[in-house]
Amino acid sequence: MSTQAHTKSAAGDDGSSAHKMQQITCTQCDRTVDVPVGDPFSTVECPGCGTAIAVPAQIDQFQLLRVIGRGAMGQVFQAFDHKLGRQVAIKVVRHQAADSDEASVNASLEEARALAALSHPNVVQVYAVEQKDSQPYIVMEMVEGQRLDEIISEQSPLDEARVLQIAIDVAKGLRAADGVSLVHGDVKPANILLTPQGVVKLVDFGVARFPERIEDPKYLGTPQYVAPEVVRKQPIDHRADQFSLGATIYHALSGRLPFRGQTVEQVLRARLDSQPPGLRQVRTDLHEQTEAIVWHMLHPDPQQRYATHDDLLEALEGALEATLRGPAEPNVVDLSQAAQTARRTKRRRKVKAKTARRPLIYMLLALLLIAAWIAGVLWWNASQKQLLDDYSQIIPPKTHRNTPQSGQPERNPIDGVRSPQNSAPPTAKPPG
Ligand SMILES: Nc1ncnc2c1ncn2[C@@H]1O[C@H](COP(=O)(O)OP(=O)(O)O)[C@@H](O)[C@H]1O
Ligand SMILES: [Mg+2]
Repeated sequence: MSTQAHTKSAAGDDGSSAHKMQQITCTQCDRTVDVPVGDPFSTVECPGCGTAIAVPAQIDQFQLLRVIGRGAMGQVFQAFDHKLGRQVAIKVVRHQAADSDEASVNASLEEARALAALSHPNVVQVYAVEQKDSQPYIVMEMVEGQRLDEIISEQSPLDEARVLQIAIDVAKGLRAADGVSLVHGDVKPANILLTPQGVVKLVDFGVARFPERIEDPKYLGTPQYVAPEVVRKQPIDHRADQFSLGATIYHALSGRLPFRGQTVEQVLRARLDSQPPGLRQVRTDLHEQTEAIVWHMLHPDPQQRYATHDDLLEALEGALEATLRGPAEPNVVDLSQAAQTARRTKRRRKVKAKTARRPLIYMLLALLLIAAWIAGVLWWNASQKQLLDDYSQIIPPKTHRNTPQSGQPERNPIDGVRSPQNSAPPTAKPPG
């Protein structure tokens, strides 16, 4: 069992920035233990009770408690701020990183300072960027929670709506960063933290971008998420983050990495001119809108992606709504689902009522048409009759020649059948 010791002396005398305490107190038996100078966070055995004691370290007013993350740039510690009495996270930039490219580190620290001016629920809050004996370190809000890459490997495949909601929150964080001209540059599941309350926090802003990472695969970490323009060493903007978020969504939804290959180079090349198989080829139950959005986000040409974070957010929110409206009715109904279902049912009823009214409207239209046709025919007949009457007044009928004598019916000249209009006796006398 290892336990954290209480410190007796705040500073060592070796001049190191993050150094061990000279003496610590065993938490089990309260005995004061002399600690030899060595690695921070090593353990010593208490000579009194044999307890393994984790050796704490101190940097300025911060007591470093434990390592919570390790990356290419350095280590991240959970720490306690003795001045303000709160838990913080501290990123201590690796000496090698600082030495190898001072300009990059300075630029990254500048970005961290810019980020400190930003306060957004989906972006980890940077409290300060400090330096101790030429050792730069960044003090941040301590985020309790799990990394998205851990969640993917434990729970894959993830629920579509959940992934879309995470993507929306990340995009909101990226939009806020874009507002202060910051590009993240390394969006990937390992840089997305989820608190137990489900709040999404984007970490590792800007500070992860080192130019040599592109050339040296070991600095790229997982090159699965990097945008093609980064690989091509072209200028990047917020759409590079959009690509990486697309790759993250792809991974989270399908459980597989979007770009694959035998070597890092193959993996990097895979994204240059083509896209991974459509998401629904990998997971058929996904909504087509989700597939289309990820396809756009992963386009090799940044011009073909969403132009702004707002456009992307609108699309993602639409897909989330469509997914929640999806065909399958949920088995377990909670309150929010019930509200959605109610809204859905109301909408369906409206559509049904509209559809039910349609045949009635068509019938009425048909009746109107028939009535209009009958009226037309009647009017035509009447007008023809009137015309004939008028004509008969202007041009007297010549029927006298054929008029049968002594009331005999007229014969049709062709078939000898009696013609109806001349069946009446002539009204006008023949001319002359
Ligand atoms: N503010 C924070 N709160 C809690 N954990 C953090 C915080 N910042 C970073 N971490 C953890 O440390 C890991 C490495 O930090 P990160 O900033 O990503 O450094 P690197 O550039 O070395 O990848 C993260 O994946 C995360 O697990
Ligand atoms: Mg990281």
